[in-house]
Amino acid sequence: MAHFLRAHHMGPQALFLLRFLVSFKGKHSAPALFAAIEETRGRYHYAHHLFDDLIIAYTDCGFISDAIQCLRLLVRKGSLDYHAPSRGCGYLFEKMMKFSSSWAVWLFYLEILDCGYPPYVYNFNVLMHRFCREGKINDAQMVFDEITKRGLRPSVVSFNTLINGYCKSGNLEEGFRLKRIMERSGMCTPDVFTYSVLISGLCKECKVDDAHKLFDEMCERDLVPNDFTFTALIDGQCKNGRVYMAMEMYQMMLRKGIKPDLVMYNTLINGLCKVGNLSEARKFVDEMRMRGLKPDKITYTTLIDGCFKEGDLESAMELRKGMIKEGIELDIVAFTALISGLCREGRIVDAERTMREMLSAGMKPDDATYTMVIDGFCKLGDLKMGFKLLREIQRDGCMPNVATYNALMNGLCKKGQMKNANMLLDAMLNLGVAPDDITYNILLEGHCMHGNPEDFHKLRSEKGLVSDYASYASLVGKSIKSSKDQEKR
Ligand SMILES: *[C@@H]1O[C@H](CO)[C@@H](O)[C@H](O)[C@H]1NC(C)=O
Repeated sequence: MAHFLRAHHMGPQALFLLRFLVSFKGKHSAPALFAAIEETRGRYHYAHHLFDDLIIAYTDCGFISDAIQCLRLLVRKGSLDYHAPSRGCGYLFEKMMKFSSSWAVWLFYLEILDCGYPPYVYNFNVLMHRFCREGKINDAQMVFDEITKRGLRPSVVSFNTLINGYCKSGNLEEGFRLKRIMERSGMCTPDVFTYSVLISGLCKECKVDDAHKLFDEMCERDLVPNDFTFTALIDGQCKNGRVYMAMEMYQMMLRKGIKPDLVMYNTLINGLCKVGNLSEARKFVDEMRMRGLKPDKITYTTLIDGCFKEGDLESAMELRKGMIKEGIELDIVAFTALISGLCREGRIVDAERTMREMLSAGMKPDDATYTMVIDGFCKLGDLKMGFKLLREIQRDGCMPNVATYNALMNGLCKKGQMKNANMLLDAMLNLGVAPDDITYNILLEGHCMHGNPEDFHKLRSEKGLVSDYASYASLVGKSIKSSKDQEKR
């Protein structure tokens, strides 16, 4: 019936019938159905179409190995001499591209090429792209080599795909070697994409000068750099701390009529903040707004951090207000930047308020952050607040570390509350927080200045730290230094 339908140009109906047969017979039925078609072919002229249909039917039913078997049966029968099942092969190949592993597709592709399926550069390129994406650069190179072996010429896309693969895997030399082959062979010339990929690769390796040379070469060849080229260059310049060069690139990019995006602005703003040029960074924020781009969390956090580094507290708080107004939520990075900035400026009350906001937003400050706030209060002499925070933090399930306790200990000792200091030491030990050298130094100094000599001697003998005056003096010196270190922190 299928032969009859084919003979009467009713292809879809024939295929429908075969699909029905295949789903009825199931997996591993290829030899049986193949033989049946062979036996019944008789005088039908269009019989060869049915083999294509059979391959398609198996493919549609998801029986890929049966579909491949049909092809192999055809090869074995020598039927290929008068007809290669290109239609079926192409169909199966497309399907395998979507669902099979790169290697399975590649081997199948080689098989159908050997059966006389016409080779297309496009197919090679797609396979190469797949291998590159999976990081299998050697396999991609193998596909590339096969293009010429099959009598075709690699296109610009073939070259670019492979060059991109090499650059991504960190092998720039091979990328440049391919570029030279491209230029020498005369098959095709490097285009914007070739250059951009190589420029981006150079920038990633911090070879910004080489990247620039390549950029110039590209412009000399009348190639118009695109946004990808500029993004790579600007990013590379900023990462190398040459933000003013990056800004030149940015201007050049505008002159060429290319639209900058948010990522590029953030890169530039970050670079400017790093070199401390906040006013220029702000100008960029205005500029991005003018172009209809909204600053995001990253923009703001970068700016806030930059403001603090420059000691410009007011601006930082203004920015923060701006964030709230625009409905951008602060994340842990932004909060930490704010809190540590405020602490550094001695604005402990604000820092504490910010930390509470952070907590109520469901984020936990890290050890360093709350220790900084506690230390701030202790230095102001507000021990009550320091301990209140400690309790709160413990209640929230945090385990304060020795640095936190040292901050508090320092506060107590400075105030001469040596009894409380001893109690805190006990509390620490009870909670399993081991005191370190700094703790003992703080205590020793405290006892020395305020305490009764007995405690001092007790501590001394307990720890066996001090045996003579000289080592004592050095300890005191150390203790002063360590509390200075803490201040710095
Ligand atoms: C910031 O950058 C602008 C533009 O390049 C420059 O004119 C200005 O002098 C810079 N300011 C500082 C403080 O470096």
